[in-house]
Amino acid sequence: MTTIVQNVCKLSQNIFSSFLRKNGQKSTAVLDETNVVTLKKLFSQITLNDIHYDLDELFLPSSNLMNNELQTTLPSSSSAPITYTSIFQNQFFSLTIFGFRKQTSLIPLHDHPGMHGFIKCVYGSISIKSYTILDNLCAPNEILNKVSELDHHCLVPVIYVGEDIITSDDYNVGTLTPFDSNIHEIRPITNSAIMADIISPPYTEYTHSYFYLFVDTVFDDRLNKNITWLLRTLDSRDYYCDTLIYRGPNIQLV
Ligand SMILES: [Fe+2]
Repeated sequence: MTTIVQNVCKLSQNIFSSFLRKNGQKSTAVLDETNVVTLKKLFSQITLNDIHYDLDELFLPSSNLMNNELQTTLPSSSSAPITYTSIFQNQFFSLTIFGFRKQTSLIPLHDHPGMHGFIKCVYGSISIKSYTILDNLCAPNEILNKVSELDHHCLVPVIYVGEDIITSDDYNVGTLTPFDSNIHEIRPITNSAIMADIISPPYTEYTHSYFYLFVDTVFDDRLNKNITWLLRTLDSRDYYCDTLIYRGPNIQLV
């Protein structure tokens, strides 16, 4: 039987594999708007049942999970604030589930180099605060003075795009592209929450991805707008995940 998850994967495969062949330079290419609308419409209909997510696994401390088949995938430390479940990944895209165990759980500011992304909330509500990276902007002295000279080359100017609130009851899908809203922070605004995301191309061991620390926001007279300055870092701070196994039917793409 064909499931909605299977259909989302098939559509993603069609969109992102042909996209890759046609454009070659994927990181600078633009997705066809019709394809984006179609994928968002289908993805927005995914529910908790469709992804076969067991809420008990979200609420159980990992020490309880250590006794079952998840044993090899869990860190030896105590329960992680966030759970990670891979539904499907190939060279073109990934479909992943993140579960936020507590309202204080947080995926800190991070980027998606050269990637497109789609985010759907399937349980609770989440907040996504997004930023778009600017090019060719020199940091003013008031920003330079706030970080070590050794870190000046890690300063990144961005425009704050805004905050999206997405709930499992609505059909909103958050998006990012290689250029727009490529840096974001995601947190639950309910006691716990679960989200699904499609990322293309997927993260691999060769992906150079970064986390970011907020430095300050200053008004730029020349651009006549507020510019936020972030500090690029490899430090993920308190962000780590327990890995949970996907329990739904296998995804088969031909
Ligand atoms: Fe992200």
